[in-house]
Amino acid sequence: MEISLRKLWVISILIIQQFAFLVDASHSRKKIVPALYVFGDSTVDAGNNNNLKTLAKANKFPYGIDFNNCSTGRFSNGKTIADIIAIRLGLPMPPPYLGVPKSQRHQVVTGLNYASGSCGILNSTRSGDCLSLDKQIEYFTLSVDNDLPRSIHSKTKLRHYLANSIYLLSIGSNDYMLNYFKYPNETNNKLNPEKYADYLLEQLTSRIKRIYDLGARKFVVSRIGQIGCTPTVSIRTPYSQKCNEDMNQKVKPYSDKLPGKLQELQTQLPHSLFVNLDNYNFAHKIRNSPEKFGKRLTLIS
Ligand SMILES: *[C@@H]1O[C@H](CO)[C@@H](O)[C@H](O)[C@H]1NC(C)=O
Ligand SMILES: *[C@@H]1O[C@H](CO)[C@@H](O)[C@H](O)[C@H]1NC(C)=O
Ligand SMILES: *[C@@H]1O[C@H](CO)[C@@H](O)[C@H](O)[C@H]1NC(C)=O
Repeated sequence: MEISLRKLWVISILIIQQFAFLVDASHSRKKIVPALYVFGDSTVDAGNNNNLKTLAKANKFPYGIDFNNCSTGRFSNGKTIADIIAIRLGLPMPPPYLGVPKSQRHQVVTGLNYASGSCGILNSTRSGDCLSLDKQIEYFTLSVDNDLPRSIHSKTKLRHYLANSIYLLSIGSNDYMLNYFKYPNETNNKLNPEKYADYLLEQLTSRIKRIYDLGARKFVVSRIGQIGCTPTVSIRTPYSQKCNEDMNQKVKPYSDKLPGKLQELQTQLPHSLFVNLDNYNFAHKIRNSPEKFGKRLTLIS
């Protein structure tokens, strides 16, 4: 499949159609939790960027080729990991916040998606217009304060609803791709990879605490995948198709330190639960034995 590599600032993972075995949508399941709320970048954006002034949009063929051949704004041929998790939880795929008209947002009580391609944990990470994690949390605050109380009238019920829902964060790649690696002379980049990972994780945890303070308790947080293996990177490395291992090694401290950081948070924040999504090693497994995951699996950018 020929895929344009012009959009170098977004990292996306093609999720193969064969993944459908994970998600049998025809057997609609009973809801396991009330809602799934999604924060992140192009790995989970479901179309927010379609509403922003940016070139980082996935609204053209062949995006969505396995999503009823419909390009929704997902940086994927099919569903994103957020969609798959939603379906497994018996929930609808959370719609993009900016794609739901303001007057209808209060009607959506099964979760929303605030993710935005080309943004990251840091405000300074961006390419064109996008929703930084701060902005995403600002929108989530509006959902909690203004929209949800219109549908869930009792304060106690709303508290239970928020505490029982799942909060997925898939973010951080762009803080390397569009920040650390892109501006080697900026303040952040004077930090070595270990220190930069510590800094990013500190920034991430302060934002997770804000989501917690709004009532969230159950978090799923992703590591950062093998950025050095995305075609946008590997195509520029000698012996094309090979991963840029130097880049992978520089990003790895973040993924290595994340589980400990989440464990710390779980101890600090009463009644919280943290799960880390090990997409770093998952992507590695797929690369090593793609046949187990279907022939069409490709990592693109
Ligand atoms: C999918 O959509 C593209 C672009 O709109 C179109 O050219 C193509 O024929 C479609 N494929 C199928 C199988 O409908
Ligand atoms: C990032 O931007 C938000 C507004 O969107 C602001 O509240 C926050 O203080 C900024 N953070 C930093 C570190 O500049
Ligand atoms: C960036 O840093 C390198 C080496 O650290 C230096 O040679 C170069 O002049 C710097 N570039 C700018 C634009 O400051």
